[in-house]
Amino acid sequence: MEALAVLGGSPCASPSSLFRSATHRTTTLSYTHSHLNLHRSHHKLATFRPQSNLLSYYPSRPLAPKKNRKKTHIFLPHLVASLEKVDKSYIMVKPDGVQRGLVGEIISRFEKKGFKLTGLKLFQCPKELAEEHYKDLKSKSFFPKLIDYITSGPVVCMAWEGVGVVASARKLIGATNPLQAEPGTIRGDLAVQTGRNVVHGSDSPENGEREIALWFKEGEICEWSPAQAQWLME
Ligand code: RTP
Ligand code: MG
Repeated sequence: MEALAVLGGSPCASPSSLFRSATHRTTTLSYTHSHLNLHRSHHKLATFRPQSNLLSYYPSRPLAPKKNRKKTHIFLPHLVASLEKVDKSYIMVKPDGVQRGLVGEIISRFEKKGFKLTGLKLFQCPKELAEEHYKDLKSKSFFPKLIDYITSGPVVCMAWEGVGVVASARKLIGATNPLQAEPGTIRGDLAVQTGRNVVHGSDSPENGEREIALWFKEGEICEWSPAQAQWLME
């Protein structure tokens, strides 16, 4: 169900509401007796009021008596996903990841998942940029150490696109503290300390857009159509 939760939402929902919904809501399309009922059937779908009637189909034959009705839920994530907005996430291999030769491994995790790479560069981050990027953490005691860390060597900057990419990338990356990150996640597999956690990922679609604009100049982002697109989504 979790995969669908990441994809859940209406095409007109704002990025922030999509992100907030990622872990809380699920979407179900139902088949009631012999009548295909693609209308929203789950009470949690109240906030996913579709603007199009694509999800609504009302058969002309009246419903069978209530007592005879059987309710079976069919899970159709592709239908919901195809209506969703494409998000952008800024992913960065931090200096420790570059020094430890983990760049290929980290890029590969996002590639294999099926997201689209639209920007990529090796870059020595100036102090001002690191401070702007992490400005929300300015008041934290670890802020000076964090800035020293991010500017201590080259980083690999990446822009990734896809439906649900922000929330999904956070899952692929794992918890901030690598010792608490699940095995199978990048930090869970490849790191041991919060101050050396090898990779950054945007924490909201808004920050994804903000960070890509911050780290990439105009012309450094490449819009393209992956040949595999039809094998990833119906
Ligand atoms: P990031 O922004 O780098 O993807 O990491 P995050 O969202 O998982 O964690 P965040 O709270 O945004 O912290 C940014 C980075 O600051 C360092 N940090 N050190 N207690 C500490 O010493 C501490 N807490 C955070 C980590 O490198 C963290 O990734
Ligand atoms: Mg963060």
